Amino acid sequence: MVKFLIFRGERGEGTFKEYEVPYQEGMVVLDGVLYIQSRFEGDLSVRWNCKAAKCGSCAAEINGKPSLMCKTRVEHLSQPIKVEPLRAYPHIKDLVADTSWNLRTRRKIIKDVGFKPRKDASWIMKDEDIEKGREFRKCIECALCLDVCHVLREHQLFEKFVGPAYLVFSAYLETHPMDSVDRISWLKEEAGIMYCNITKCCTEVCPEEIHITDNAIIPMKERVADRYFDPIKMLIRKIVGK
Ligand code: SF4
Ligand code: SF4
Ligand code: FES
Repeated sequence: MVKFLIFRGERGEGTFKEYEVPYQEGMVVLDGVLYIQSRFEGDLSVRWNCKAAKCGSCAAEINGKPSLMCKTRVEHLSQPIKVEPLRAYPHIKDLVADTSWNLRTRRKIIKDVGFKPRKDASWIMKDEDIEKGREFRKCIECALCLDVCHVLREHQLFEKFVGPAYLVFSAYLETHPMDSVDRISWLKEEAGIMYCNITKCCTEVCPEEIHITDNAIIPMKERVADRYFDPIKMLIRKIVGK
């Protein structure tokens, strides 16, 4: 048998309840949660879709670590296995958190600094051009990185910082070979990229193994620093008045 402690409750109020589920070879945490839902707790709220680590909807905190329930094997975990909702977000019920901020943030980025092709763009893409953004396109928007990021989780700066997943999305737009948008001032002023202090916690939990900090955030932070904090460039801007 496998012992689970599942968070039950609404709007942040609640408690952990213990369940026992028969072990099956290859069992993942989502199997256990769905067994509990079908046998013991018909009203247990849990979000999932693909069961293949591709839709990102089964994100939860498992033994304190943001993880995908459908990708986390029970044999690798200490018991009882504690499953709770993503804690950075407002709680709705049981294992479901309100992650609608993610959708709003993505929409806002598309509206404000989305992709605009260069006027002279030749629409023939080379393999090496496609390669540049390939890593960032793997993002499944599971929100694990957002949940673990202390800027959002502890400091709740959702209005000031777009968070690692949407910096990955911005990095994807930046690497598009036909991109014409200058996002540097947006990254500093609206996306709040300077709130990131490169702790790399986001990279550690990414199920797609995207090098969020090294490949997406640091290069963009460097571009912001070059423009705004390089003393020579600042002097030139002062002289030319830009
Ligand atoms: S960057 Fe990784 S952890 Fe973050 S949302 Fe995308 S896939 Fe999930
Ligand atoms: S590296 Fe930056 S974005 Fe990633 S968790 Fe740390 S502060 Fe957040
Ligand atoms: S159910 Fe789709 S990622 Fe887990």
